[in-house]
Amino acid sequence: MTKLILGIETSCDDTSVALVDQRGNVAAIETVSQYEIHSEFGGVYPELASRAHLEAILPVIKKVMTTAQVTPSDLRAIGVTRGPGLMGSLLVGLSTAQALGMAWDVPTYGVNHLRGHIRSVDLEEKRLSYPALVLLVSGGHTLLAFLQDQNSYELLGTTRDDSVGECYDKVARTLGLGMPGGPAIDRMAAAGTSRIKFPRPMIKSGYEFSFSGLKSSVARYVETHAEFDVNDVAAAFVDACLDVLSTKVLRAIENKQPATLAVVGGVAASPQVRARMQMITDEAGISLCLPPQKWATDNAAMIAMASWDYIEQGLETDLEPKPNLRLGEA
Ligand code: KG4
Ligand code: ZN
Repeated sequence: MTKLILGIETSCDDTSVALVDQRGNVAAIETVSQYEIHSEFGGVYPELASRAHLEAILPVIKKVMTTAQVTPSDLRAIGVTRGPGLMGSLLVGLSTAQALGMAWDVPTYGVNHLRGHIRSVDLEEKRLSYPALVLLVSGGHTLLAFLQDQNSYELLGTTRDDSVGECYDKVARTLGLGMPGGPAIDRMAAAGTSRIKFPRPMIKSGYEFSFSGLKSSVARYVETHAEFDVNDVAAAFVDACLDVLSTKVLRAIENKQPATLAVVGGVAASPQVRARMQMITDEAGISLCLPPQKWATDNAAMIAMASWDYIEQGLETDLEPKPNLRLGEA
């Protein structure tokens, strides 16, 4: 039987476990989301997140192994997220992985969640080629990076305040759309027209981002327009985000001359983001690689995929939780 990696992801509010082979085929995956637990707090409540991971993790691992009819002897390794993320949540995944690795005599690797998002584009099919420009847009991060090859990361810019995903979630709350905010905004925006002009913060120069002004601007508009149209506000908000993201991406394409643009992270699940990125890469004459939509948001398949790099490239890592682990660190 082909050897598999058991991937474990518990960095935030999803308990996800997957089995992935060296070519990126996903033999089984199971993800338990905690949306319902956190929705009343309007954000992830760390103490409840780690408790929920603790309850879910072993049954989820058992289910994935049973579904794929896999035993520990079929495993090449276990790969588990060690950061960035919430300390308590990371610890549940790491200690479970460490215990199983010892009991099963299987090597266990601590994986950088951001590397996982980047490697999500190679799930099911090899897509990424170098040099690559990477736009990572998730709930925890918004960053633009240039990768000369798979191990040389140049961080071009990041956000000074909110991430794009956070901004989608907060605007969704302002519009009364609940959690998860991203998909709800997508649906409303698809039905609206972007006739309202929201600001495009920091669009004029550089690679740094800022989204909190845009978020406040949407909140102010809603407060001062009693009869506002939810679809139009969502469409105008998405348009402002996309103008900022695409302007910075085009600037980086011009300056860094990458062969590929990879757009990853939860917000890369948005049809509007995918369409706009397709448009600008077509214009620039470079290829676009996107993870299949279901692998854009946090999942263990991308962590297992990234774990193969640690084996193939002999990357040094350990099982210490690193809540602030940065891009480019193993
Ligand atoms: O990558 P991810 O699952 O978790 C982090 O690593 O942070 O990203 C979560 C973020 C959330 O803010 C969520 O609203 C956003 O991704 N998101 C979306 C969509 N699905 C998830 N944003 C826009 N459109 C979507 N379909
Ligand atoms: Zn993530």
